[in-house]
Amino acid sequence: MTHTEFLPSKYNRIVTEGKVTFKAPSNIALVKYWGKKEDQIPANPSLSFTLDACATTTSISYAIVKGKGSGFSFEFLFDGKPKPDFEPKILTFFKRIVYYLPFLREYHFTIDTSNSFPHSSGIASSASGMAALALGLMHLEKELDPKITQEFFFRKASFLARLGSGSACRSIEGDLMLWGGHKDIPGSSDLYAIKYPFEVHDVFHGYHDTILLVDKGQKQVSSTVGHDLMHGHPFAEQRFAQAHEHISKLRGVLATGDLKEFISIVESEALTLHAMMMTSRPYFILMKPNTLKIIEKIWAFRATSNTHLCFTLDAGANVHVLYPKDEKEKVNQFIKDELVAYCENGQYICDRIGFGAKRVLPAQV
Ligand code: PMV
Repeated sequence: MTHTEFLPSKYNRIVTEGKVTFKAPSNIALVKYWGKKEDQIPANPSLSFTLDACATTTSISYAIVKGKGSGFSFEFLFDGKPKPDFEPKILTFFKRIVYYLPFLREYHFTIDTSNSFPHSSGIASSASGMAALALGLMHLEKELDPKITQEFFFRKASFLARLGSGSACRSIEGDLMLWGGHKDIPGSSDLYAIKYPFEVHDVFHGYHDTILLVDKGQKQVSSTVGHDLMHGHPFAEQRFAQAHEHISKLRGVLATGDLKEFISIVESEALTLHAMMMTSRPYFILMKPNTLKIIEKIWAFRATSNTHLCFTLDAGANVHVLYPKDEKEKVNQFIKDELVAYCENGQYICDRIGFGAKRVLPAQV
């Protein structure tokens, strides 16, 4: 399937105004996306857990503008207050997707967004934010073309979200999402994420993710720059091949609930991501001393406690501690006793696997 699938047919309805709200979750990759080609095409496939508590809620109000020129008309609010410094991002996004949503030039949009997680917690809101925005715009497209099926709605929302921020395409549905073509996975695509289509053992249902906020500051190197440094990276090809292999191996692991192998793949992925950063030119390090201290503590605790917690990392210093729901009591106690001390201001977020974005109905806003 190519991107032409997402070009709209002629709309047969007129919609003058409306408002819609979507709440979209963040996600955490088990197999990481790091490196991309033109147009946000990933250099390798990635697999993620959709989260539940960490989410962005975005309301879009739209009103048709008569006699509009060729530009875009929108305003962006964060927590109800104007946030003009975010507008260039929206403008870039609109320019990228207008080919697929030509109505963007015909409306004035008021985009009001808020995050469930604390502002500047070091948790990127680009995945949840772009997913919520893409879903809101798809809602308007469905108003204009009611024939759009639910399946297409989500697929195109994922496709559009990807053009905003790659990993955002995995934040539309849940609980396990795959993005990027993989030879053993029918329906997998570089253009959008799909629900992981194979068997998943019970142990992974309701899996927990406690996010330890090690460093809440602004990242020194953005993901955009990091992805770019994979061009000409000496280990790029091996890394991309490894991601394909890890996804193949995870198929058996996820089906049988082999936690030992799960931990080995997930932690290897996290460290490989950071190893790619450390071996780029220019090289950089996003982990902090406390990131490493937490990793050591996790390894020591796992070796002596008969638990199956493991860590993963995003492009930052924060640590995601993953564990089965049945081990919640033991692991939470360990986190409180031994890991919270390494978090900035003792802050952490308790999250778990979730099932994707939801429309928020007017009474709930
Ligand atoms: O979606 P981006 O461009 O912010 O890149 C995200 C990259 C990682 O979070 C490091 C890995 C991933 O697959 O989510």
